[in-house]
Amino acid sequence: MGTFLVTGATSGIGHAVALRLTEEGHDVLGVGRDETRGAALELESDNTITFLKCDLSQADEVEALMDRLEADQVVLHGVFNNAATFGRPGTPERLPASAFDEVFELNVLATNRLIQRAIPLLATGSSVVNNAAIVGHVKFPPMLGPYAASKAAVIALTKTFAHRMKGKIRFNAVCFGPVDTPLSHKLYGGEAKFKDAMSHHFRGNAASPEEVAPVVTFLLSDASSYINGQAITIDGGYSLS
Ligand SMILES: NC(=O)c1ccc[n+]([C@@H]2O[C@H](COP(=O)([O-])OP(=O)(O)OC[C@H]3O[C@@H](n4cnc5c(N)ncnc54)[C@H](OP(=O)(O)O)[C@@H]3O)[C@@H](O)[C@H]2O)c1
Repeated sequence: MGTFLVTGATSGIGHAVALRLTEEGHDVLGVGRDETRGAALELESDNTITFLKCDLSQADEVEALMDRLEADQVVLHGVFNNAATFGRPGTPERLPASAFDEVFELNVLATNRLIQRAIPLLATGSSVVNNAAIVGHVKFPPMLGPYAASKAAVIALTKTFAHRMKGKIRFNAVCFGPVDTPLSHKLYGGEAKFKDAMSHHFRGNAASPEEVAPVVTFLLSDASSYINGQAITIDGGYSLS
């Protein structure tokens, strides 16, 4: 059984993946900012999840987090880079350059930073899964330019690291269609509006975080040992329509 680092473990997809990993018998280091939800996460998992408070958009906080893991001689068997932001939706012709900063800082630079610092801690044969999206891969909604560009960059980073590490550490990206989480509720202006929009989904509703979590834990496990450098679409057929 292994130790897995999961970012954005206090909500949505990261929360479901962290819990699923513990159900599979692993220990989890769950990263997020919200201490109340972090404490609840530890309780919910009977302390098999350790909450680590870190604002990943702050480079010094990422360095401090990884310094701590290094000092504790933590050996990791996998990482799920999951925390991200949509940023501010806006018309691409008018978006200020600053709209890209916040999104790229968390979605791309923090992911890259964390991977760089995690590599020396990752055991041979371990697996890194990066949460990209169908946006920036197969779908390009016009108001989410920085988010789409950031997720395309996450896929490029995934393939770059996969090539570099030659299978000693595997890297794959997951590209989910709509998942029922607080992030998507916010984008649609509330849960009711999200659910209403999802009635037009290919299959009539979005996935729950628990429905997609096993895909991530499979990719983090040895059962997926021949899958490397891929960006895998998981969307219930959404991109067909
Ligand atoms: N929901 C979808 O439809 C969908 C579809 C495709 C891809 N995705 C991707 O899935 C991932 C997770 O999204 P979700 O829908 O599960 O969102 P969510 O429910 O809002 O969860 C986001 C998580 O990220 C953490 N987080 C956000 N900013 C952070 C920061 N600066 N530092 C540390 N942690 C931070 C949050 O923790 P704290 O609040 O504790 O900081 C929270 O645990 C994202 O990469 C998203 O792009 C989502």
